[in-house]
Amino acid sequence: MNILIVGSGGREHAMAWKISQSRKVDQLFLAPGNAGTVNVGINLPIGVSDFEGIKKAVLNHHIGIVVVGPEVPLVEGISDFFRADDQLKSVAVIGPDKVGAQLEGSKDFAKAFMNKYHIPTARYKTITGDNLEEGIAFLRRLDAPYVLKADGLAAGKGVLILSNLKEAEASLKEMLGGMFGQASARVVIEEFLSGIECSVFVLTDGQHYKLLPEAKDYKRVGEGDTGLNTGGMGSVSPVSFVDSIFREKIIQRIIEPTIEGLQEEKIQYKGFIFFGLINVKGDPYVIEYNVRMGDPETESVMPRIKSDFVDLLEGVADGDLDKRQLDIDPQYVCSVMLVSEGYPGSYPKGRVITGFGEVKGSFLFHAGTSLKEGQVVTSGGRVIAVSSYGKTQQEALENSFKNATTVSFKGKYFRRDIGFDLK
Ligand code: AMP
Ligand code: GLY
Repeated sequence: MNILIVGSGGREHAMAWKISQSRKVDQLFLAPGNAGTVNVGINLPIGVSDFEGIKKAVLNHHIGIVVVGPEVPLVEGISDFFRADDQLKSVAVIGPDKVGAQLEGSKDFAKAFMNKYHIPTARYKTITGDNLEEGIAFLRRLDAPYVLKADGLAAGKGVLILSNLKEAEASLKEMLGGMFGQASARVVIEEFLSGIECSVFVLTDGQHYKLLPEAKDYKRVGEGDTGLNTGGMGSVSPVSFVDSIFREKIIQRIIEPTIEGLQEEKIQYKGFIFFGLINVKGDPYVIEYNVRMGDPETESVMPRIKSDFVDLLEGVADGDLDKRQLDIDPQYVCSVMLVSEGYPGSYPKGRVITGFGEVKGSFLFHAGTSLKEGQVVTSGGRVIAVSSYGKTQQEALENSFKNATTVSFKGKYFRRDIGFDLK
């Protein structure tokens, strides 16, 4: 079978690395991939939203399964595009249709869904230009800090946390006035939840699901979780506070009601569900749903999956995921992201990366890299995730930090405290 992965980041490289190990795969393609994915597959110069280009590639290369990495093509309806096309109908797409993708594409949709199915989440109210007064009144009933979320996709930047009421009221008006364009024409105001976060993932065929290894990511650019939010500076799996009791609460209160709710709503959901959770005094609450895997969580999750991942993807396609095997490696995997100086603000591109030959005991999952005149150069803010196994979290981290030093490019930065809050 031939497989196509849509996307170009560290998440897609980690998936490609895992998928390429399967005996079930003949050829693996990426659209568009990066300088690392050429080691495990064939890059095609096609953008993630170029559905016609993807269609041509699928037909030319006889693709049987398309794995969609990022959320944007899902929210834009790539699954619906395949289902509606006679030539593509029989090709499996791993990723929900447009309606299912609203779990990530619309915070209001996600909150209404959680309320309807009694899934624990922060209290909220959705505000538009028409009920601004209700928004102000709701804010005044909440305690600080205040959480404001753009309803639509805003490239991970659409959440504001304000420490006082005046700022919150002003920001609400600015958001509705177009701070995030159309994405903030509706704003979800939420109660602030206090606790430690983790990322939980399932793969589902719509009926059955498999619980993948959980992970924790580190979003802030600075050590000690300070500074600006980024796409993610590193990740750790497993997560020490996700013990069997907490995991059981997640399954009973969150995962199973979500799968049942999707069925109740007649949403055909085949793909990944990413539960962004917060542990409030031992009880899990949903901060957000994503309809894809996390990045950089995937770079720690994939190496812990021992089973044939393509067999699991086939289970999703065929609707018999319950009959497929998922074995998880008990070892730790930790990932440290090497980023460009200036990130998450503006950053230089085209810097030559060296030291690949000296890396020992880690995997390098490329994120923002490209090939230029035979050299690997930086092409993004997040450049390479350095992932390593260890019998303990400490051991995995030490391996990653060592190789994070070995790989070199001008202006390289990484956080040296990934995992600091987990013991
Ligand atoms: P989201 O894009 O919804 O994941 O929000 C981005 C980040 O804002 C989350 O990872 C949390 O750290 C924080 N956040 C979002 N909602 C809440 C909330 N209700 N209470 C506390 N923190 C939140
Ligand atoms: N690491 C968080 C995300 O992928 O959204």
